Amino acid sequence: MQKITKAVFPVAGMGTRFLPATKANPKEMLPVVDKPLIQYAVEEAIAAGITDLVFITGRTKRSIEDHFDKAYEMEAELQARGKEKLLKVLRNVIPDHVNCIYIRQVEALGLGHAVLCAKPVIGDEPFAIILADDLIDGEPPVMKQMVEKFAYYQCSVLGVQNVAREETSQYGIVDAAPLSDNMFKVNNIVEKPAPELAPSTLGVVGRYILTPRIFHHLPRVQAGAGGEIQLTDAIAALLTEQQVLAYQFDGVRYDCGSKLGYLKATVEHALKHPELSKEFSQYLSELSKKL
Ligand code: UTP
Repeated sequence: MQKITKAVFPVAGMGTRFLPATKANPKEMLPVVDKPLIQYAVEEAIAAGITDLVFITGRTKRSIEDHFDKAYEMEAELQARGKEKLLKVLRNVIPDHVNCIYIRQVEALGLGHAVLCAKPVIGDEPFAIILADDLIDGEPPVMKQMVEKFAYYQCSVLGVQNVAREETSQYGIVDAAPLSDNMFKVNNIVEKPAPELAPSTLGVVGRYILTPRIFHHLPRVQAGAGGEIQLTDAIAALLTEQQVLAYQFDGVRYDCGSKLGYLKATVEHALKHPELSKEFSQYLSELSKKL
């Protein structure tokens, strides 16, 4: 019986949809209210029992390493000022039992290539992948739900969601048959199909559990959609020899890789934030009267 203890966070993309904000700063450090996207992703992994966090980074990504590092000067300053609550916030960014490992993806050759960069630290174990720009609110957190599915089925599990047919060309879309509650057996997967060619409207959204056999297929994948080495193409090869399941998770997903999705996440999280919810909802209702 295998357990998931490692998660890969590919954070080496260029984030062109957020330029110029992402010229010198990573998209994953954009805050939703008061936490960067990558921290939401890391908290989700930790809630799933994952202890080794593998970040695939690139140029302009140093602030991610700094974020998960100990901030000695700031801690000393807050302590001196007696700001215990803030000190706790700072220290809780990463718990002591969790390890952070950083690997550079020298060229942004695609998500598949980024995942392949993690091979030396993943070794021969099943592992999780979390894309921080898909922010998902779930109770329990979505990766925990997926780890439970993996514990039962002991095979690769893809997190999927129903997407609008006119948007299939933004996702990896699965051709899948129902298996049991919210679980599907994947027969095929295609990257960014046109709406009329999409085998279904079940799109993969930034959460994966894969067996290490994926590392056999990734180096064999040719550059696909967008000239990038696509993880989807390696999964298509994987499912010809191993069972791959799709799990329609229970949760609300915000596409924070797009400006509109990011704004929706910001507004909805602000409405739920204990310090802000009351005043912010008053502000929004005043604003909506002017629209
Ligand atoms: P996206 O398709 O969102 O690309 O990547 P991007 O470069 O981040 O953003 P845009 O489209 O230019 O605005 C999906 C995920 O894969 C990672 C990204 O960091 C993101 O989490 N990725 C992508 C890599 O780590 N390396 C790559 O070469 C490509």
